Amino acid sequence: MLSFMDEVRRRRTFAIISHPDAGKTTLTEKLLLYGGAIRLAGSVKSRRAQNHAVSDWMEIEKQRGISVTSSVLQFDYNGFCINILDTPGHQDFSEDTYRTLMAADSAVMVIDCSKGVEDQTKKLFHVCKMRGIPIFTFINKLDRAGKDPFELLEDIEQVLGIRSYPMNWPIGSDRNFKGVFNRYKKQIELFNDGNHGQTVAKAIIGDISDEKFRDLLGDDLHTHLINDISLLDMAGDDYDLNQILNGELTPVFFGSALTNFGVEPFLESFLNITTPPKPRSSNLGEINPETANFSGFIFKIQANMNPTHRDRIAFLRICSGKFEKGMTVNHVQENKKVRLAQPQQFLAQERVVVETAYPGDIIGIHDPGIFKIGDTLCQDQSKLQYEGIPVFAPEHFAKVFTKNSLKRKQFIKGITQLAEEGTIQVYKRPNIGVEELIVGVVGALQFEVLEYRLKNEYGVDVIMERLPYRYIRWVELDHFDQNTFSITMDTMIVEDEDNHPVLLFQNEWSINQVKDRNKTAILKEISLRK
Ligand code: G4P
Repeated sequence: MLSFMDEVRRRRTFAIISHPDAGKTTLTEKLLLYGGAIRLAGSVKSRRAQNHAVSDWMEIEKQRGISVTSSVLQFDYNGFCINILDTPGHQDFSEDTYRTLMAADSAVMVIDCSKGVEDQTKKLFHVCKMRGIPIFTFINKLDRAGKDPFELLEDIEQVLGIRSYPMNWPIGSDRNFKGVFNRYKKQIELFNDGNHGQTVAKAIIGDISDEKFRDLLGDDLHTHLINDISLLDMAGDDYDLNQILNGELTPVFFGSALTNFGVEPFLESFLNITTPPKPRSSNLGEINPETANFSGFIFKIQANMNPTHRDRIAFLRICSGKFEKGMTVNHVQENKKVRLAQPQQFLAQERVVVETAYPGDIIGIHDPGIFKIGDTLCQDQSKLQYEGIPVFAPEHFAKVFTKNSLKRKQFIKGITQLAEEGTIQVYKRPNIGVEELIVGVVGALQFEVLEYRLKNEYGVDVIMERLPYRYIRWVELDHFDQNTFSITMDTMIVEDEDNHPVLLFQNEWSINQVKDRNKTAILKEISLRK
């Protein structure tokens, strides 16, 4: 039996971030394969397709064949207990994707070697950077033609502004991708075809000085590798564990998730470098995960996972203490006691009722409409509250009205609940108030979600008028007066749910203009929920 401390220390909780199609799903699947959670690669996708038919809570999801909300997977590997937080990578990703990163202790950034850093990766990276969590890079698809590895490192440094340290170096590329050089162990790892990636890849491993590699690789490739390595050693950044753990230096791994090349070495180094759950900030200072008082915060609320019930599931990240099924805890913000009766956990795609869970784990708890994003639950009476979950910048905006004015009450109720779940953000025009609501979303698909759910759950048909704004900034200023605050013609002033002044912009030029004209104002891209 493992002790409580052992359980905490073997936890690794991370999110995989990427632009769609870089290979996040494939890599996740391969991690499950190496963890023994699935026997043959390829099963996650087909399972995912099956699951859709059963668990889709919305037609939109079914029609589009995509997962609107993100999920959590747990499996064991080499004594570690791994929690992978999945972040939806589709074009229409939502604020949930960002919020999931608040529950992660580190992130793995998957980059397609032929594309380099792409737009969505950039956005997700910045949230990880803001949190100061370690960010690992997996450069994928080395079995295909891609950019030069040095160029890819430069791309990461230029576009993301983070220094990089290649943990391994690719040997060959495209069809000639043979394996990697492990810089830490100073060894060459050549991979055999792992049955087209279906089963784990076997490797021929040996010291770089071993002359057999010259024969195995051929003169050209061998010399090329030796030159690359000496260039890296001379000109590259030094390995610095502290910088890695603070998110200032990203360890980079090259590989191919499809053929499994480099997946296991990546997983092993990653697990060795990442840390177990660390203390988290709260109103009572840093809370150590190893303290006995059970506590956690809600980072995501998902509605109607089961279409026959109208209930919601709140996702709780455990931060300290041991969780036991049926325990009664304090809902700090509401000052109420709550019994956690049927908590769920997500084990390699299966959803099961969980008996016990530890810091780093994510559990899904039944929510009869009492939780909000950012709420803290804790066992003792300490009034502990974890740092709030930020409100992230929406990129799409629309005015929303009811078609039938008699349904106004239902409309407001629906909009309020969906805002509480974090599906949408709601703004008012000063002096106009709720007569004209403006809704902001991170991914445009959320508008369809809003329309669908208002109709199906609240019986309200809405008219939506898309607005041309693309950027939002929260204004920090001692005395904001909309009559004297200088904006451009194409900028709109609104208020958020806390009556905080907010600006909606159509372009970056206007943002710069407004900054220029109001020197004392600070314009923020992310706001803290009250
Ligand atoms: P995502 O979750 O990041 O969106 O990406 P996903 O894993 O679904 O991968 C996107 C496509 O890239 C898939 O091809 C997948 O097979 C392919 N892919 C992933 N990793 C690698 C790799 O290391 N090398 C190569 N060559 N391809 C890779 P698809 O044709 O869209 O889907 P499928 O029919 O193969 O499932």
